[in-house]
Amino acid sequence: MAILNFGSLNIDYTYAVDHFVTAGETLASTNLVVNAGGKGLNQSLALAKAGAPVKHAGMVGEDGRFLVELLQDEGVNTELLHISDTVRSGNAIIQTDPSGENCILLYGGANQAIEETYVDEVFSHMEQGDWILLQNEISCLDYIISSAIRNGLRLILNPSPVTPELLRYDLSGVDLLVLNEIEAAAIAEVDSDLDPAALAQAVRKRLPHPTVVLTLGRRGSIYLGDDIEAHQDAFTVDAVDTTGAGDTFTGYLLAGLMRGDTPAQSMRNAAAASAIAVTRHGAAPSIPNRAEVEEFLRKVAQ
Ligand code: RIB
Repeated sequence: MAILNFGSLNIDYTYAVDHFVTAGETLASTNLVVNAGGKGLNQSLALAKAGAPVKHAGMVGEDGRFLVELLQDEGVNTELLHISDTVRSGNAIIQTDPSGENCILLYGGANQAIEETYVDEVFSHMEQGDWILLQNEISCLDYIISSAIRNGLRLILNPSPVTPELLRYDLSGVDLLVLNEIEAAAIAEVDSDLDPAALAQAVRKRLPHPTVVLTLGRRGSIYLGDDIEAHQDAFTVDAVDTTGAGDTFTGYLLAGLMRGDTPAQSMRNAAAASAIAVTRHGAAPSIPNRAEVEEFLRKVAQ
C-alpha cells in the first residue's frame, strides 16, 4: 500500500544570519544556499528514505522541475504531480541563526494554484482505505480534506502552518494529527502552556478521537491513541539547522506505522531521524536514509 502525500514543493533560499532581521533593518547574511524544500516535498522524501512507498501530488512551475526529479531519484511516484507552464514554483526565504533556529517567509506560487478539477483528477486514482497525508501549504485544502473523507481514505494531517482558515475547516474526519504545541493549542482552543499530555488530550476531546502525535522539540514527543499512549525523548545532538526536522519526524513516523511497527518503535525511529536532520544544513538535504538512522540508534544504544 502506498501513501499519497498531497503537498507543497518549494525552492528554499536559506540565508545564514547573526540574528533574524527586524523591521526597518538591513542585514547582511553570511551565506546563501538554494535547496529543495516545502513541507510536502520534505515529508515525501522522509517517507521514501524511511522505506515507505509514496506518491506525491502537488504543483510546481517550470522552474521546479528539479524538485520533481529529486523526488523521483528517491523513488517517490510523481505521476500525479502537475508541472504548470503559467505559474512559478513556491519558494521560501529562510533565515537561520547561529543556534540553528529559523524563521520562514513563504511565497505559495504553484502550491496555491491547486484547483478542484485537479483535486478530482487526483482522487480518481485513489481507493477506499488508502492513506493520504496533508499539510497546510497548498490551496484547496478544505476541498481535499472533504474529498478524502468522502472517498473513505485514512487521513493524516500535519496542520502546519496553522492559519485562521485552517481552523475553520471541518477536521472531524482526521484519523491522525501530527502537530506541535502551538498548532495543538490553536485547534483545541486552549493555552499552549498547558502540560503536553493535557494538550494532547484537549485535541482529542475537540475532535472525534483522532490519534494525536504531539511534537515537543527538545522535550520529545507524545503519541496518544484510543488505547495507547507513548512518550519518546528527543536525542541530544548539536543542532545547526532545525529546518525540516519536523517533516523528517512525520515521514519516519508514518513509514513506521505503515509497515506495522509499534507506535513506540515508530516514534523512536522518527526521533532519531529528526535528531540527525538538525545536525545538517537545509531541509530536504538534511533528511537521513534508513541505514543512517539505524546506525545512529546502534550508537546511542552502546
Ligand atoms: O518545514 C520546513 C519547510 O517549511 C521548508 O522546507 C520551507 O519550504 C517551508 O515550507
